[in-house]
Amino acid sequence: MRIDLISIFPDYFAPLELSLVGKAVSSGLVELGVHDLRTWTHDRHRTVDDTPYGGGAGMVMMPQPWGEALDELVPPEAQPTLILPTPSGQLFTQSLAAELAEQDWLLFGCGRYEGIDARVAEHAATRMRVIEVSLGDYVLNGGEVAALAIVEAVVRLLPGVLGNPESLAEESHGADLDGLLEYPMYTKPAQWRGLEVPPVLLSGHHEQVATWRAEQSRQRTAQRRPDLLQGPN
Ligand code: ADE
Repeated sequence: MRIDLISIFPDYFAPLELSLVGKAVSSGLVELGVHDLRTWTHDRHRTVDDTPYGGGAGMVMMPQPWGEALDELVPPEAQPTLILPTPSGQLFTQSLAAELAEQDWLLFGCGRYEGIDARVAEHAATRMRVIEVSLGDYVLNGGEVAALAIVEAVVRLLPGVLGNPESLAEESHGADLDGLLEYPMYTKPAQWRGLEVPPVLLSGHHEQVATWRAEQSRQRTAQRRPDLLQGPN
């Protein structure tokens, strides 16, 4: 998979050299490109933003550097998926992560300030798939942290990235648990600070363990995320 990220803060993506994503890059499973949006400015101050038409506080990212960046990075016949992180996008879910993990090329456009001039997404959509994606119902200072989270959620799903692919089974939000939250997990010792591991987990009865876990999953979800009881997003 190829992943490109465009931002005015390319240093935000240094953590992609670490851990599983870093290994996926150094082993060649993922080809990563980080691009400074200011490369495509032409004035002395390398300006990327301007005041909003219609008035209001804050600044809006100008279409010109974005348009030139996409022209240069995406050849005419290429078909990347352009992901624009924004609090006004569709919610990022595990099922979207799984779908993105099947693509050959993801390109992230990380906006700052009050966002990117809306014509950038409109124009890009005439020649590539564009999705505006929100990490959740809160506002970050820009798309970079959201892009990092999306890249991590997607890359760990690529075949060969996790040492033990079975780690992907029975995770929160996954199809194995019908989109519910994962049950609580325990490891040794069986007693710690007066707290015991639930005895069923020490019993060796696989069926009873499975029943207990399914019930815990359901209870947890009902308590913490009742909205998920309808099944996977
Ligand atoms: N940019 C700012 N806030 C965001 C959010 N919640 N999700 C994705 N991108 C964002």
